[in-house]
Amino acid sequence: MIRSLLHVGMTVPDLEIGRAFYELFGLEAHASGNDLVFRCPDRAQDQVRLIEGPKKRLSYISLGTNAAGMQALKGNLERAGVAIADAPFRVPFGGIWFQDPHGDWVNVQVEEAAPSLMAAPPEVNSPGRYRRIGTRACGVETMQKRARPRRLGHLIKFSPDVDRSTDFYTQVLGMKVSDRAQDILAFLRGTGGGDHHMLAFAKSTHTGLHHLSFEVGDFDEIAIGAQTMTRAGYKSAFGPGRHVGGSNYFHYIRDPWNSLAEYFWDIDIIPEDDSGWVPLNVTPEELTAVWASEPPPPEFPMNFELPD
Ligand SMILES: [Fe+2]
Repeated sequence: MIRSLLHVGMTVPDLEIGRAFYELFGLEAHASGNDLVFRCPDRAQDQVRLIEGPKKRLSYISLGTNAAGMQALKGNLERAGVAIADAPFRVPFGGIWFQDPHGDWVNVQVEEAAPSLMAAPPEVNSPGRYRRIGTRACGVETMQKRARPRRLGHLIKFSPDVDRSTDFYTQVLGMKVSDRAQDILAFLRGTGGGDHHMLAFAKSTHTGLHHLSFEVGDFDEIAIGAQTMTRAGYKSAFGPGRHVGGSNYFHYIRDPWNSLAEYFWDIDIIPEDDSGWVPLNVTPEELTAVWASEPPPPEFPMNFELPD
């Protein structure tokens, strides 16, 4: 049923602190009523909505489906005894709202993910597979290169019961498990396949946001983006490196509220028919990284979001 991650809503104490962070990260800010909304360049889809409030909190996630998926979802919610509620936030979009087993808000809309209008990055020359012939990958103009996020690819939420969260999002919302680490981590993809994970759960004492992750054009954009953020005083939280769960290259930056924003590139794509994909079930360490410039710091898996 769930085919795409549309955007996330977060409550934060100061919208301008959010504007400074996400604009430097590579997103574009737009006012939306009293809120601040961020989009990727050349793409007409909200990715982050910041709502001003007393403390930082992941307020909701907004997911996309098609008309048939919406009908099936409503049936599943009814059978599971989950009430469809009035919108808990003043937002200018429709869809249905309900709460997951731990009280976190979910919005689902009949909506397709918007395409990116940005030019594709240059082909890559690999041994025996040379695809960029007669064209520089790096010229003088690449000195001006910036990280340009193409889309919000996924988020990891904290959960006090990863198995229960996974059961709800697979059985009621139709998502599929791509890989997991026992009852500590679970990576879920959409019903129609696509990215290895659109949503994942990490064990904690309470809910919260671990990270939002944005796809960029190539590995350089990961490194350039991280360099831009750290030179401005934001903290590198982990990376660069390459994950096992999803295989994507990554670099995480601490956001102003102590959750994380990730640049990623080259994530595993799983087709709708699964093509024989076999989920791993290993330790969290085994899923975390094939390599990284340094081991993850002790605070990397911590939940800094305060419980209600
Ligand atoms: Fe990620």
